[in-house]
Amino acid sequence: MKDLTTKYLGLNLKNPIVVGSCSLTSSLSEIKKLEKNGAAAVVLKSIFEEEILMDAESQLREAKENSFIYDKYSETLDYIDFHVKEERLNDYIQLIKQAKKEVLIPIIASINCVSSAEWTSFAKRIEEAGADALELNVSLNPTDLEIRDFEQTIKIIIQKVLAQVKIPVSVKINNSFTHMARTILDLSQTGIAGLVLFNRAYAPDIDINTFEAVQGRSFSSPESYTETMRWIALLSDKVKCSLAASSGIHSSEAIIKQILAGADAVQVVSALYEHSTEHINVLLDGIEKWMEEKGFSSLEQFKGKASSKNLSNPAVFERIQFMKHFSGIN
Ligand SMILES: Cc1cc2nc3c(=O)[nH]c(=O)nc-3n(C[C@H](O)[C@H](O)[C@H](O)COP(=O)(O)O)c2cc1C
Repeated sequence: MKDLTTKYLGLNLKNPIVVGSCSLTSSLSEIKKLEKNGAAAVVLKSIFEEEILMDAESQLREAKENSFIYDKYSETLDYIDFHVKEERLNDYIQLIKQAKKEVLIPIIASINCVSSAEWTSFAKRIEEAGADALELNVSLNPTDLEIRDFEQTIKIIIQKVLAQVKIPVSVKINNSFTHMARTILDLSQTGIAGLVLFNRAYAPDIDINTFEAVQGRSFSSPESYTETMRWIALLSDKVKCSLAASSGIHSSEAIIKQILAGADAVQVVSALYEHSTEHINVLLDGIEKWMEEKGFSSLEQFKGKASSKNLSNPAVFERIQFMKHFSGIN
């Protein structure tokens, strides 16, 4: 039996496999299944800022159309608005409370946020419900021309949330920033406990028969772990918070590589949809087998062994352009 324990967001995890936010973590029965199959922690399905607000707005619109509300009763509007939001949040709070009662692994709540508006007060309620940590999926849309400074907007969101809670807060970001290294380093110094690299963007496609835009591949491909690995290897010994690798982690090898690059944990989602939750056991067995072959008894012995500081050829991670010297291809 190998020692796979690791520390992530200040939480002691029995192994590095965290199930990322998705529908598999949206009910107590699924969370129990994930725990039974070896997950070290789960990030709950996000409560969406947009969803909460839109839901409230659509019910308000309906109420208005049905003439239930007249201007003179404008307080009714406030009541419905409040009530709808309360109901959605209450379901989420109940899930956290039940999960904390019935499973032993850490429960990380998740908010999918697009602004620093009123949802930041939800963070307090999530903490009071007993969540071990809170992950913010900051989904600022790069096509939004109104936002001038994405980094600054994320920092304001972080500030507002950190002012509300004492539990560890992590931030999951997209991999599309003008100056990725600077952004990651700056965000790691804001007081957050961890960064999750990266969220996966929704992939559109075009149907060549109907000429319509359609939904592309929902799940990541097993090759896509390299982008995350590059940034973890380059920055793991420089950041001021823990790091979780996310996107394209389908195999034990991919997990081992992320730990070698310096990740404290990994988040797995697509692989569990494609292979079932039992795949976590397969991943854990693969890590233990590799450790046995290499003579490692604990994760700590190889964490960061291939981070840029420890590599003889870190330029491989720094290069962006193909060059014959590095790729061997003309
Ligand atoms: C079906 C599905 C639902 C997801 N729902 C959420 C969500 O609610 N909140 C969130 O932050 N990420 C969500 N994600 C993104 C995942 O948490 C993860 O960051 C992404 O899929 C990359 O990991 P993977 O390559 O292991 O799939 C979802 C992904 C999938 C495939």
